[in-house]
Parts: sequence; structure tokens; C-alpha cells
Amino acid sequence: MDYVSVKGMHDIYGNEAAGMAYVASILKATAELYAYREIVPPVLEYTEVFSRGTGESSDIVRKEMYTFNDKGDRSVTLRPEFTAGVVRAVVSNKMYATEEMPLKLYYCGPAFRYERPQLGRYRQFNQFGVEEIGQDSARVDAECIIMAMQGLYMLGFKKLSLKINTIGDEETRAKYREALKTYFAGHIDEMCDDCHERLKLNPMRILDCKVERDQKIAEGAPKIKDYLSEASEKRFYETLSILNDLGVEYELDDSLVRGLDYYSEVVFEVHALAKDGTDYGALCGGGHYGGLVKELGGPDLVGVGFAMGLERVYGLMEKDGLLANLDTGIDLYVMPVGENVLNDVFTLTEEVRQLGYSADTPLAALKMGTMFKKAERRGAKFALILGEDELNKGVAQLKNLKTKEQSEISLKDLGEELDKAFDKAYPNEDDDGCGTEEPGKATEAPDPEDPEAGLMKEGCACSDADFGKEEEKGKK
Ligand code: HAM
Repeated sequence: MDYVSVKGMHDIYGNEAAGMAYVASILKATAELYAYREIVPPVLEYTEVFSRGTGESSDIVRKEMYTFNDKGDRSVTLRPEFTAGVVRAVVSNKMYATEEMPLKLYYCGPAFRYERPQLGRYRQFNQFGVEEIGQDSARVDAECIIMAMQGLYMLGFKKLSLKINTIGDEETRAKYREALKTYFAGHIDEMCDDCHERLKLNPMRILDCKVERDQKIAEGAPKIKDYLSEASEKRFYETLSILNDLGVEYELDDSLVRGLDYYSEVVFEVHALAKDGTDYGALCGGGHYGGLVKELGGPDLVGVGFAMGLERVYGLMEKDGLLANLDTGIDLYVMPVGENVLNDVFTLTEEVRQLGYSADTPLAALKMGTMFKKAERRGAKFALILGEDELNKGVAQLKNLKTKEQSEISLKDLGEELDKAFDKAYPNEDDDGCGTEEPGKATEAPDPEDPEAGLMKEGCACSDADFGKEEEKGKK
């Protein structure tokens, strides 16, 4: 039997793994700029967390969960999304009583949905997201949206489309559900089996149906904006006005209701297409939630959040060449010339690593040509070449593999010699290491005089957050 990965689950390695780690690091750094702290909830939760939290009428709970009984015969589920699990963690740990409010939490990790695999849609995928819990304010909602956009700008996206809507408060949705029930009751015979069930459970979920014929029918359905309570309308316009003040462009989309049951008030999605038109679906989706904390046994606190699919973000960046400058190579390939120097070179390579330079060396004697090929394949910046002659003299040949410049350096001053060579070859790397054109450029507010100006764009979080490769090395 040939072993393959489970359908819809993919192996991430090589450049994709490096790219995804880079995407995650920039998003985490952005969240930290906005004072969010990390939370790492378990992958597995008791099933009720999602059935009650994410919602019985959502497609996720009805059809897409990986649910099974553990050995103690309790029903558990691999998280299909983070929000319900994060709120469960907030409640279980009484974080609302012990931590600074509002709670500002970010997370990053795998989620699981039994969906039909296709471009940008997997059964195991990775989400980065945030939840801000405990403060009911349009400003909090706006901050969350702005942060989502900012994270994507930090990654180099230039053109994003923010779609926004409100699904109002409970009073609004109760009236709206009644209106939808009446409307869809007249069409239900032409609609799919799922929609029959949705009509019973929650007619709003019919609006998420992917069947083309049903979508056509849904186009003629009543719109939530005609049912908004005064309070919800006011709140929505407050959020929009904050976005306007910050120059954030958005598109009002009254068909956007999002597929999860916990939402109330503002909901949003961020979309982008690759330059060649490839659509990976929404990069990011989120919104405000009113009753979720209480539903999961906590106090009556509201929250707002979003999540992004890392595979989708990565896929688009790859397509548009936004990762072309990502440095996935090592600093040095250390080359032993001849069998006799293998041990010394092995020890020296370890020293090089202690100095903070990433390095590799062959563990057996190889031909020079083979070693240069290996160095190239690993993206090494320099080769450090040592034979018996060099070792006897206490020197090594240092070759810049890009410029092909070569010089002899003293092993006694190895650290200084390497610092000098790297500073000369990569003079900007100290600033951050993110590879953006303007290293260390701080986020900027848009120019209020500039009608084209949007939200802070193309900044670089690196100078404010210590995820830079250079920092890790601690070499300079
Ligand atoms: P969601 O819209 O279900 O929202 O998922 C958020 C993002 O995860 C999507 O926009 C998409 O990029 C990605 N995603 C979803 N399903 C898949 C899949 N099968 N394969 C690849 N990527 C996928 C939530 O999960 C909410 N918890 C967001 C939220 C947080 N709302 C409030 N707080």
C-alpha cells in the first residue's frame, strides 16, 4: 500500500513551511503592536463547546466537524475554529476576573473542517486570529478590523477589499428571521435538502448556501438593513465613521451574514485576488459577538475578533511574488578539504553556530564541486573553506557565494571577521531582517490631505517586535 496523507490534509515543508512561518511571525508581531497577548488553547474540546458556541445551525457544526468519542466515551471534537475554544478558555480560567480587561488575545494554529477540498480550502488548515473580549464599543470593533487590515499590509498586500455589514442585535435578528422564514417558505420546494433543515433551525443560514439555484433565490430575500433596530443602526454607523476617519476603505455588503451563529452587530471579511485573478476565497473573516461568553457559562461579556487562513494568505503572496525576497538560506556552508580535517571542521562549524551564524557542513569528505552545489541548494551566503594548510596556519578562506569574492580570514578572530564580512555584504540586515524595501520603517498614519490615502500601509513591524532573524542570532 502506498501511504498518502489523509484527503484534504497537506504536508507543509521547504519554502512553504518557511513562508507560512514568516506570515505567522508578521501577523503575531502586528497583534503584539496592538497589545494582544498569545493564547494557545487545546486542539481538542468537548463537542458541546462548538455545538453551543459555534452554533447548531452553522454548516461547520452540522456537517464539518471531526467528532469522535474518546476512550472515556466522551464526545470530543478537533477544533473547526478557535473562537468558541478561546471563549471556553476565558471562562474556565476566569480570565475576565484576573486579567487586564478588555482581554486582547491572539492565536495561531491548525483547525479542522470536513469540507470539500479545493483551492484554498483544506480539511486541516491554519488560522491566525484575535479575540478582544469584555468591552462593548464601536471603537473596539474598528480597532479589530484595522488590525486585520494592518496585518495584511505588513505582509505586503497592496490592494485589499474590506466587506462589511451589520446583522444587528437580538431584536433585529429575531424580526429578520421571521421575515426570511416567510420569504423562503414560498420557495423552499425548489431548494436543496440542507436549506430545508436551515429553514427550521435558522433561516439566516440559508443565505450561506453555496448551491447556485438557492443563491439566486436568496438574492431576492429581505435585507437585514431594513430590520435594524435604532441602537444597531447607530452602532454600525459609529464603526463606519471611525473607519472613515482613519481612511479605511470598505464596501457595504448587505448579503454578508457570515456562517457562524454567534455573531451580532458588525461582521466583516477581507478579500483579495492574485494579480492573475486567482481567487483563494476570503483571506479573513470576523465580527462582533454578543451572547457567546454567557452561552459558554461566563458573565455577560461581548467580544469581537477575526481569523485568517494562513494557507490562503500564503497562496496569494506566493502567486504575487510577495515572498520572493524571503531569506530561507543559511549563513555559511563550511567546507572541509580532505578527510584529515573533518573533525576540526566539524568542531569549527559548532563554534560558528555559537557565534550566531546558521551553518552546515558535510559529515564526510566531498569533492569541492559537490560542496558548492550543496551550499547553493541550501542558499548559503558564504562558504568557509578549510584544508590542512589553512588549519596549520590558523586561517580559512571565506567566499561570498553571490559576489564570488574570496579572502583569507584568521580563525583567532573568527567572530569579528564574520561580522565584518556580513556587515559589508548585508549592510541593512541589522535594521530588521524582514526584507522589505524600507527596513525599519515604522507604521505611518495616512496623510489626511491625501484623498487616496488609506490605512497605514506597507509599514514594517520588525523594528518594534523581536521576531527578526538577526535578533535571534544575537550576533551583533
Ligand atoms: P471563518 O470565516 O470560518 O471564521 O474562517 C476564517 C478564515 O479561515 C477564512 O476567511 C479563511 O481564510 C480560513 N478558512 C476557513 N476554512 C478554511 C479551510 N477549509 N481551508 C483553508 N482556510 C480556511 C472563523 O473561523 C471565526 N472563528 C473568525 C472569528 C474570530 N470571528 C470572531 N472571532
